[in-house]
Parts: sequence; structure tokens; C-alpha cells
Amino acid sequence: MPSLVVIGAQWGDEGKGKVVDYLTSNADCVVRFQGGNNAGHTLVIDGVTTKLHLVPSGILRENTKCYIGAGVVIDAGVLLQELAGLRKSGVNVSPSRLVIDANAHLILSYHSAIDKAREEAKGVNKIGTTGRGIGPAYEDRASRSGVRLAELFALEDLKPKVLDNVNERNEYLSAVLKSSVRVDFKEVWSSIERAAEALCPHVGNVSLLVHEALKRGERVVFEGAQGALLDQSFGTFPYVTSSHTISGAALTGTGVGPGAIDYVVGVAKAYCTRVGSGPFPTELLDTLGDAIREKGGEYGTTTGRPRRCGWFDCVAMRRAIRLNGANSLVITKLDVLSGIEKIRVCIGYSLDGKKIEDIPALAGEYAKVVPVYIELDGWKENLSGITKWHQLPANARLYLSTLSEILACPISVVSVGAERASTLFSSGAEFLKSFVSGERP
Ligand code: IMP
Repeated sequence: MPSLVVIGAQWGDEGKGKVVDYLTSNADCVVRFQGGNNAGHTLVIDGVTTKLHLVPSGILRENTKCYIGAGVVIDAGVLLQELAGLRKSGVNVSPSRLVIDANAHLILSYHSAIDKAREEAKGVNKIGTTGRGIGPAYEDRASRSGVRLAELFALEDLKPKVLDNVNERNEYLSAVLKSSVRVDFKEVWSSIERAAEALCPHVGNVSLLVHEALKRGERVVFEGAQGALLDQSFGTFPYVTSSHTISGAALTGTGVGPGAIDYVVGVAKAYCTRVGSGPFPTELLDTLGDAIREKGGEYGTTTGRPRRCGWFDCVAMRRAIRLNGANSLVITKLDVLSGIEKIRVCIGYSLDGKKIEDIPALAGEYAKVVPVYIELDGWKENLSGITKWHQLPANARLYLSTLSEILACPISVVSVGAERASTLFSSGAEFLKSFVSGERP
């Protein structure tokens, strides 16, 4: 100990990669525990941009070990490409630095084929998935037909199972989804052989490694992907991802107990974005929404899709704080709001004329929710170059303190740019400050 969970508190893309990179300056290890290459974490260090989908964001800190836990689903081709890119930039990605749990499952080409064919079959009712096969891979884990990394050590035993899977999935693609796509067993099998050759040296027991690191008193960061509102159970179902994205998943996706978590930090943008379908009460469908998208570079790291943009939503955020047990929030991209004359904040919802306290369980009802806003004066100043909280314009500080008061949750850190230096601590951020400095919080 100490340990820290960094979690998305909205619909993903909150800037967790940057936050994890920042908070790991003195961390001993970083663990990814759910999701797969549907995630995209962008890091900008000394002007150089690195995009990661599977490798934990701590990889750019040379003394930090990186672990991929059993809760992650891995597309080996994407992981190998990512490792090759990092190696080319001089980053050490040897097995001594990157370990993947033997119980993590592989995403195979039939998973993405089914994901895409299903979305096509759904037409206008599609979820808007990333098409990376995430849902089908987690389905196979639940139905016990998935392929774990451990099985790469016994390829001859694995072969008949993969052949059965391919035949069954091809049948499903043609008979049920009416898709013309067929998966070729030979191709699937050669991707498995390539994965075995390159990844077996990285396969280990992440649960045990993290347990031992915590016992030695090392600093551990658990890095979440996506966001609380995309959680499989508590998100805005069915427009969610197929894993648990809340802090509890750090335990089940790594294989450690509840005592392993000291602190949970929720990461949220100073406004809201969402990719894919599903209700979004504070969405801005006007030129201001477009302006925020352009200024904030709100295009998916993984798919390039334009993100839907809207005002900060305190009802959704209260839910995220509760689901995660968040001790504090990190607010990112505050700089994007500079120049907006009046900034709105959603402080409540009404449904059929009645005030409601939380997100309704039915998407049809959520789509009918009307947001209740307050309006705050904006600020004109460009925030780039600001490195201290007190240098923020008064209205920007008022915006943050208003959010914190409405949410009854401290804001510990604010980010005003992509670079590490554009990260500002509030006066109450003792735990995180000492975590970063390497002192004992
Ligand atoms: P899937 O995870 O690809 O199945 O997609 C399910 C939903 O989650 C879709 O609305 C995606 O746009 C969304 N989603 C998945 N991963 C991310 C992410 O990393 N950021 C934002 N949205 C995501």
C-alpha cells in the first residue's frame, strides 16, 4: 500500500490516460483490469503523442511495472502492434516490465465479425459499439468457450476447441445474423500461433504479483477504461460496454480483495461527451456543441468517430461518485470552456414533470428526461501555461467550486492541457500529492 484506482466518471474519454501517466510518476506498478482495445488513451509528453489501447498508461515511466489483469480482453494483433510501436520509440516493453494474467481472454477475429454483423443487423437501433469484438469476447468468457492466454502454452489441446468455435460462429453469422462474412479457421489459428510465440513470455500471475507488491508497501495504480456510465450493470443500459467499468472491477479484474484499495479518484471532463448511441440529456446539438468538439479534439482515439458534446451533468456525476466510492474528482479539459460566455451545469432532471434524483433504469425513460440547469459566467482567458490553481481566472475557480459543492465531492486536480505540466492540484489534494511525490500518503 498505498494504492489508487483511477476510474472514468462519465461515458469514457475523460482523459484517464493522462491522469494515470501523471499519477504514476512514483508508482511501482500500474494495472489495467477491464475492457480491451475499445479503449484509447492518448498521452502527450514533451510534444510527442502516444496512443495506447491495451498497454497500461504507466509504460512511459521507466521504473513502473505494467500489468494487464485477468479482466481484460486482448486482441493479440493490436497488442503486438502497440508493443512494436513503443519499442520503436525506445520504450522498454520486455516481459520484466509487462506481464499479462494467464486468465485474461483473447479477442479472436470471429468476435469482431459478430460484433460488426450484429450492429449491422440492428440498423438504427445499433448500440454504436467500437466494433472491436468486446461484447462477443466477454460472452464467450461467460459461456466458458473463450480462449485464455494460459491456453497458448498447450496449442494442440486448444486446436479442437477453436475449430468448434469457428464452425459454430460461422453458423451463427450466416443463419442468425444473415451475414455473408465467414471466418477462416486457418487465419484464426495462425493469429493464435503468432500470439503464442510473442506473448507467452509475458504471461504470468498478475493477481499474485499485485498482491505481493501491495504487501511490500509498493505504490499501485489500478487504471480503469471507459467510464461509469458505460458499466455493464449500472451504466445507461443497453448503451453500455460489456465489462464492469466501476472501481469494484479493479478487484475482480485483477484478483485482489477489497482491502487492496486505499483511494478512488474519478476522472471527468469539465463538460460531457459520449460516443455511440444512447440518451444524453445535456447534449448540445447546436454550433456550441460543434465548437466544443473542435476545440476539445473530441474524436475517438480508437475509431475516429466524432464525440457528442454537452454540458456537465451533476445527476449523472453523483451516480458515478456513488458507484465508484470516489474520494475526489479530477476535472480535465477545463481549458476547452474558455471563451464561452455563459456556462450551464445540469443540477437536476425532471421526467414527465416530476423531479427525479437518478438516471432511470429504462433507456426509453432516460431519453425523455429534461435537464434542469443553472448558468454561470464564463471566462475569456486562455488557460494554457497555467500551472497553479490560484492562477486560474476567478470564474473558472467558481465553476469548479460550484461543481464540488453540488456534488458534495472534492475536486483534487484540474487539467488545463495535454502536457504533464498542465496539471494543477487543489489545496485539499493531500493523498494524491504525496502519491505523486513518492512520500507515504
Ligand atoms: P463496445 O465496448 O465496443 O462494445 O461499445 C459499447 C459502447 O461503449 C459504445 O457506445 C461505445 O462507443 C462505448 N465505448 C466503448 N469503449 C469506449 C471508450 O473507451 N470511450 C468511450 N466510449 C466507449
